[in-house]
Amino acid sequence: MSIQPLDGNGHTELGPAGALPKATLLIVDDEEGPRQALRVIFNDEYDVVTAGDGVEAIELAQTRPIDVAVLDIRMSGMSGIEVLERLRFVDPTIGVVMMTAYETTETLRQAMHLRASDYINKPFDIGTMRQAVARALERRSTGVNARQSAEKLEELKSELHQKTLDEEMLRTQSDMYASVLHDINGPLTIISGLTQLINQRIAEQEVLDGEELEMTRDQLRRITRQVTNCVEISRRYLNFLRQNPNETLRVSVNEILTDVRELLRFHPAVRSNELVIDPVRQDVHAAISGTDLIQVLLNLTVNALQSTPEPHRVALRTEQVNTSLNLSELQNGPCDRYMNFEGLKNEPPLVALSIEDNGPGIPPPTLARLFEPYFTTKPRGQGTGLGLCIVQRLVREAHGAIHVHSVVGQGTRFTVYLPGLSNER
Ligand SMILES: Nc1ncnc2c1ncn2[C@@H]1O[C@H](COP(=O)(O)OP(=O)(O)OP(=O)(O)O)[C@@H](O)[C@H]1O
Ligand SMILES: [Mg+2]
Repeated sequence: MSIQPLDGNGHTELGPAGALPKATLLIVDDEEGPRQALRVIFNDEYDVVTAGDGVEAIELAQTRPIDVAVLDIRMSGMSGIEVLERLRFVDPTIGVVMMTAYETTETLRQAMHLRASDYINKPFDIGTMRQAVARALERRSTGVNARQSAEKLEELKSELHQKTLDEEMLRTQSDMYASVLHDINGPLTIISGLTQLINQRIAEQEVLDGEELEMTRDQLRRITRQVTNCVEISRRYLNFLRQNPNETLRVSVNEILTDVRELLRFHPAVRSNELVIDPVRQDVHAAISGTDLIQVLLNLTVNALQSTPEPHRVALRTEQVNTSLNLSELQNGPCDRYMNFEGLKNEPPLVALSIEDNGPGIPPPTLARLFEPYFTTKPRGQGTGLGLCIVQRLVREAHGAIHVHSVVGQGTRFTVYLPGLSNER
């Protein structure tokens, strides 16, 4: 193998006339005799520089690239081991040959630990010294190559990481656009129902007064609320995309329950089902934005209402939990699915909101896939399969968690745990 000298960056460079430049050999010995002897031996092959002590040697190594150093271990002032240690800081790939007289094994062990490639006994034999220096040079070029490969690998790794992040961002963004459309669909359904009612009424009447006028006003108020809701939904997702830091969030659960009841009054999913929304006797506050909590409860309640076309019952209940949850007992099973308990801010008070139905229940294979984006069992065109994925994201962002308990033939209960806020605050 032919070895070419390397510059400080590990590159080989051609000399002025196109000839290969010589490798630089640093000789460090506090005795004039061996220094000169080594200079004579290597002068033709190497660009030889010499130093009479450690300080001079380090200064030289700092000002020019050194390929190989021959160091005497026993020197007055800085010892050869210390020089080696410092050289390693300047350039970890310099090839090093140590010259020893009668060293202890501990000194030799230190030298090997600092990756000296050889140690030669003084007085040295010229052939052995030549071979040792050649091996040290070879080792340096291997070290430089290895370092370059490692650096390249690191570069590639970080490029790959950045690419994965960019793709993840894009994917999240397109999921979010789909989420906006999904969430806005609810209010739009209500708006559409109410406008139909108003249209029918004004088509039949020349003049509106009394009860009918009042009813129309009320419906227009509801439409306005839904339009505001749409605007808030789009604003929320725009905030997500801009990655705004979260402000301190606090919402009255009873106010939200009233909103949800209002919102569902005209929702087609209610049909002839029984919907019970119980307020909490003593109001509790949850650490989440109002629009987010409405969205979570609406998605879960509409799912429960849509679980079967048969008339059934859906109940939304709230409870304040004044202890932390015992997470060690929670385990996914055929009837239970636990989501995001690892991210739950498990400090009392917690708010537990449950949506329970006596619908068909969820078979275990479906239960396992419930929160996957675009997973739906609804006929084509009827469900996007994004509802639960949105619920999960909103709950996760609020440092909450979700438990689903479902028994086929009996029904399903979704419980959302959210960090609560004590009422005094
Ligand atoms: N209460 C429930 N009872 C039975 N199955 C449910 C219940 N809630 C959710 N599921 C199942 O979970 C699936 C995924 O629900 P998700 O809300 O994510 O999407 P979707 O309701 O199908 O579509 P979209 O929300 O767009 O209407 C549903 O298709 C249904 O199979
Ligand atoms: Mg849904």
